[in-house]
Amino acid sequence: MISSLRSFGVLGMDAFVVNVETDLSTGIPCFDLVGLPDASIKESRERVRSALKNSGFSFPIRKITVNLAPADIKKTGSFYDLPILVAILKASGQLTANIDNSAFVGELSLSGKVRPINGILCMTIKAKEIGVENFYLPKQNAAEGAAIDGIRVLPVESVSELMSHLCNKHIINPAKKIFKKIKNNVFLPDYSEVCGQYRAKRALEIAAAGGHNIILIGPPGSGKSMLAKRLPSILPSMTFKESLETTKVYSIAGLLKSSTSLVEDRPFRSPHHTISAVGLVGGGNIPRPGEISLSHNGVLFLDEMPEFSRNSLEVLRQPLEDGTVTISRANSILSYPCCTMLVAAMNPCMCGYFGDPNHNCTCSSKSIQRYSSKISGPLLDRLDMQIEVPAINFSEFTNKKLNETSKNIKERVSKARNIQLERCKNTSISYNAKISSNLISKVCILSNSATKILELTFNKLGFSARAYSKILKVARTIADLEQKELIEDNHVLEAVQYRSFDKNFYVN
Ligand SMILES: Nc1ncnc2c1ncn2[C@@H]1O[C@H](COP(=O)(O)OP(=O)(O)OP(=O)(O)O)[C@@H](O)[C@H]1O
Ligand SMILES: [Mg+2]
Repeated sequence: MISSLRSFGVLGMDAFVVNVETDLSTGIPCFDLVGLPDASIKESRERVRSALKNSGFSFPIRKITVNLAPADIKKTGSFYDLPILVAILKASGQLTANIDNSAFVGELSLSGKVRPINGILCMTIKAKEIGVENFYLPKQNAAEGAAIDGIRVLPVESVSELMSHLCNKHIINPAKKIFKKIKNNVFLPDYSEVCGQYRAKRALEIAAAGGHNIILIGPPGSGKSMLAKRLPSILPSMTFKESLETTKVYSIAGLLKSSTSLVEDRPFRSPHHTISAVGLVGGGNIPRPGEISLSHNGVLFLDEMPEFSRNSLEVLRQPLEDGTVTISRANSILSYPCCTMLVAAMNPCMCGYFGDPNHNCTCSSKSIQRYSSKISGPLLDRLDMQIEVPAINFSEFTNKKLNETSKNIKERVSKARNIQLERCKNTSISYNAKISSNLISKVCILSNSATKILELTFNKLGFSARAYSKILKVARTIADLEQKELIEDNHVLEAVQYRSFDKNFYVN
């Protein structure tokens, strides 16, 4: 007897169809798995054998051959336990129901329980694309699968429950989408808690509005980490498209909570500086998205940036520019999206007090230079905005009236972001930082006097061509915050100020 059913594998950000073909024939009893399975799939033989017996079915004493087609793609993961088991039941005649329009995925425990797996969202998208009507998947992944409309997602808890359903004895109800309950924001960090630092807050508002990369430089305890950690409170809400993209990354990384269908808040990732290059950009033996992809459509915060290894920082250069990480392997090329806003914080020198009027810096000029050179010029060039965060004085600490709440700032940021979405609605760009070089002249239109100011500063301060386009994009965001279509003098002048490093920050 032969049977065939559909399942899925994951390659990068996409799923591919895997046909699980099973043949039971006469011969010396054995259980062969072919079709380039890796070690974890080969072990599924033992799980399937035990799960079948412990669910009240008999394991056929025959020569069993399972083929995972297409045979030329290497299969990894434990997705195929459930489909292999169902295919064996079908081939041995223990299951008679029609499963032609169905697909199955899931890992099995020895007792026959179905365990969650990674990558359900992209599998469900693929299942819908190929016309699958019933998609059977682990119960813990049900919310994730239910995010996609137009396909029946059936959560399975155990093999016996699935068999009862297929034999019409007990009906499994299709999974429903679960959206986040409205959160009580009272205990979330808010910008009203940060005293003073109006310039830094203004810069972060612009960065949030246009999705610009930003670096904060200042002495210890001036509030750099505090400012950066409050960014999520002013970031604009995600569009459905952005939410789906981010959820896909989390689904593949296995980080999606079973209680929600979609990632609805912009991610804020803050990896420790001991992280490796692979941890930051992704890859590894079994490829996995790195921190930069996990912060897709959100923020990647690198606190104490010079403490990160040079290698880890340098690998960020290409992904930051392209918005995708490409991982090449001998037999496949994968890519993960990484449209992220990079936020970095650092002290100006080893002791932290270089340029601070209240403390003497104890570092030698060589040590200051060594410290600043830990961040390479090309990486610095990719940071649209560079801002100094000086220590605050006592009066700022006590005068809390001027501290605006994150709610107010978020309103302005959202308005500016909506303008950008509307302006670029026929393109793949959704915010100013991503404006491509061919669009920049169409989108960033300067008044005559603003052009003159930019020309003057460009010649005087020796900006790079990249810095020039970054200034234009930041000026575009500042104009959007004021809801102005034409970029004017004050917008350019403010944008130029956010290039402190280009203006020889380290010259006394
Ligand atoms: N502007 C501020 N308003 C209110 N509290 C502040 C401010 N700046 C610093 N603090 C207080 O100081 C603590 C340390 O601040 P934070 O960790 O942000 O400093 P930092 O600039 O990141 O220092 P480091 O360079 O050492 O990392 C905060 O937890 C907060 O309690
Ligand atoms: Mg800090």
